[in-house]
Amino acid sequence: MTEVTLTVNGTEVTLDVEPRLTLVDALRHRLGLTGSHVGCEHGVCGACTVLVDGAAARSCLMFCVQAAGTEVTTVEALGEVDDLHPLQEAFRRHHGLQCGFCTPGFLMSSYDLLRDGSVDEAHLREELSGVLCRCTGYAGIVDAVREVAASHPDGLPDPKALGRPILVRGGGVPAGEAAALEQSAERAAATPSAGVGAVDLAVPDGEPNETVDVVTEIDAPPEETWELVQDFPKMSRLLPGVDLSRELGDDRYEGEARIHLGPMRLTFAGAAQVLKRDTSARSLRAIAAGRDISGGGVRADLLISAEPRDGGGTRVRAQAKLYLSGRAAQFGRSLAGDVSRQLFAQFGQGVEQALKTGEVAEPTQLRGGALAWSLVRARLASLVRRIRS
Ligand code: FES
Ligand code: FES
Repeated sequence: MTEVTLTVNGTEVTLDVEPRLTLVDALRHRLGLTGSHVGCEHGVCGACTVLVDGAAARSCLMFCVQAAGTEVTTVEALGEVDDLHPLQEAFRRHHGLQCGFCTPGFLMSSYDLLRDGSVDEAHLREELSGVLCRCTGYAGIVDAVREVAASHPDGLPDPKALGRPILVRGGGVPAGEAAALEQSAERAAATPSAGVGAVDLAVPDGEPNETVDVVTEIDAPPEETWELVQDFPKMSRLLPGVDLSRELGDDRYEGEARIHLGPMRLTFAGAAQVLKRDTSARSLRAIAAGRDISGGGVRADLLISAEPRDGGGTRVRAQAKLYLSGRAAQFGRSLAGDVSRQLFAQFGQGVEQALKTGEVAEPTQLRGGALAWSLVRARLASLVRRIRS
């Protein structure tokens, strides 16, 4: 293993790597920057293009150790979802993408091409031919780049999202998923800036992207259920994928939430704070906020209650208002709602199990396969219902 220090998107990172690890694999698997895509791994398709010391480079053709001491800029640094770079705006306006696989390569190549404003319009297509697109027919891409070239004759603005915290994951290559997640959690726990310092625990205002309201009926009495629910660290262990690593005082907690759903792998490092425990209503309100290392954010305004059920037992009710940004928003509003509903359904079952056995299990993880299947089943059932009605 070799220790390599480089600056990625304005943040200095040091990682131990095998000398054979390519830069694109280091960015994707060790730093969680999955915006750079891997297509051919032969320097042909351009999907992996990043800037190395300001110049476009194929990150599949470069070893990470060769990037030691350089400044690497990836597509994640160009802009934010709510504050796109002009190139990203233009690609969107001109429909310069379909599946989006080639898009990071086109954006970074175009950035390199236009950054000092000296582009040769007549040779634009030729200049862009270093990136291959399988979908668009290139017209929208060329139009987008041409428009930005015309509107920025003196060069492009700098990337807008430099300097975000970056978590270095895993040490082995290839890193086993569990080991990488474990190390990521350890580092998150050891680095306060990745948690509470980096997130906003104020009550979100405005319209949430999605709201969920899940009720699970259990046989245990409400008093007993409330006893468990009001204990926030204990209760959180019943939320699959949620792992509180540190108590910060003042009913604030640092930790992370992991969501694995097929190819979507999001790990949100952040914090939560209990705002209110209402013993007479047996309800607890908390705010949770987390950021994914690629910049996506989720904030949730949670209300968990243990309501008496007619005829005995408890209705465990979990309500959440979800506020998504960045990559988390790409997750899709309704999918985020489905995931949250599934999470709270599992939570309700976990509460029942814990009260039956008297033991709160170790923190569990959302099982992607099972979750995906249950979502597919739920969608199919709703489709069948719609067809029948
Ligand atoms: Fe690097 Fe195709 S993956 S050029
Ligand atoms: Fe699909 Fe270019 S948009 S490969």
